[in-house]
Amino acid sequence: MLFLLLAVSVLGDGVKEDEGCPALRDDQLVRVRLDPEEDVLRRPFHAEFQPFYATTDWESPERFLVGYTVEVGNPLHLSAHPPSPEGCGERSRARDTAAPIASCRRVAVSAGFFDTRTGRCYGHLVSGGRVVQTAEPWRFNAHFGLFRNGSIFVGYVRPEEVREWPFKELVGGVLWLIKDGRSFFDQSIRLECGKTQETGSLREFAEVKSARVILGHDERGQVKIIVVEGKTRKFGATLKDMEILAISQGLVNAVNLDGGGSAALLLNSTLLNLPTDSW
Ligand SMILES: *[C@@H]1O[C@H](CO)[C@@H](O)[C@H](O)[C@H]1NC(C)=O
Ligand SMILES: *[C@@H]1O[C@H](CO)[C@@H](O)[C@H](O)[C@H]1NC(C)=O
Repeated sequence: MLFLLLAVSVLGDGVKEDEGCPALRDDQLVRVRLDPEEDVLRRPFHAEFQPFYATTDWESPERFLVGYTVEVGNPLHLSAHPPSPEGCGERSRARDTAAPIASCRRVAVSAGFFDTRTGRCYGHLVSGGRVVQTAEPWRFNAHFGLFRNGSIFVGYVRPEEVREWPFKELVGGVLWLIKDGRSFFDQSIRLECGKTQETGSLREFAEVKSARVILGHDERGQVKIIVVEGKTRKFGATLKDMEILAISQGLVNAVNLDGGGSAALLLNSTLLNLPTDSW
């Protein structure tokens, strides 16, 4: 099983109190749903882990990226978890939450954004069919979800839909990099709430080099995670880099999850990347 963790990362300095974001209109509630192919949903657990070294700009050798892809395949093997042991509101490091989960469930990666002052989780969170929390009605950010029948959901979703629809897992990111095989990056910067991250404007957040974690699926409905090493403003990937990597990996939908200081990827109990939060 693969576990997505909520909790994690400081991508910048503190922010002011929430003042809300403009809510999306009905015609702006972009979302996609894909029924994975039958044989994908029947596949036993298998996580294919692949380190990589890549560049999205051959002219700039300093732009080399070091990262990992984890192909999970069957989306039914994915689950989203609040920080442990106490849940949202506790400031626990992703790797600490992940360690016990990863030892029995094999692969764990940091996922949802949170308020770095209070530890409060941002966005909707559904874990194992249980609605852990719904976001404020004005806080629209791209979510990645699974329905109970294995169908994949990507996009913007209202709190009441989270409660009514048969989600099995649902976790929020910030910015939707690829939608239906095409770049959705600029549109998502216009649509999404910028207060779910603490780096600066959504444009700054997208353009800063940092450790990054994205979650997506290919056209058959196989799930893949891409993690790139980095330290905010020093080295790592911009979201444009992540979009290019995601397309090269065959992803047709991809959502940006929390990265930065404590982006964490664990295989069994071993931390694979180099989180920079406590250095
Ligand atoms: C899976 O569930 C979703 C949400 O209820 C539904 O829209 C979709 O049609 C279902 N897919 C299949 C193959 O039954
Ligand atoms: C992780 O643990 C599982 C179950 O114990 C084992 O089968 C697998 O080989 C381990 N993977 C690695 C890369 O150590």
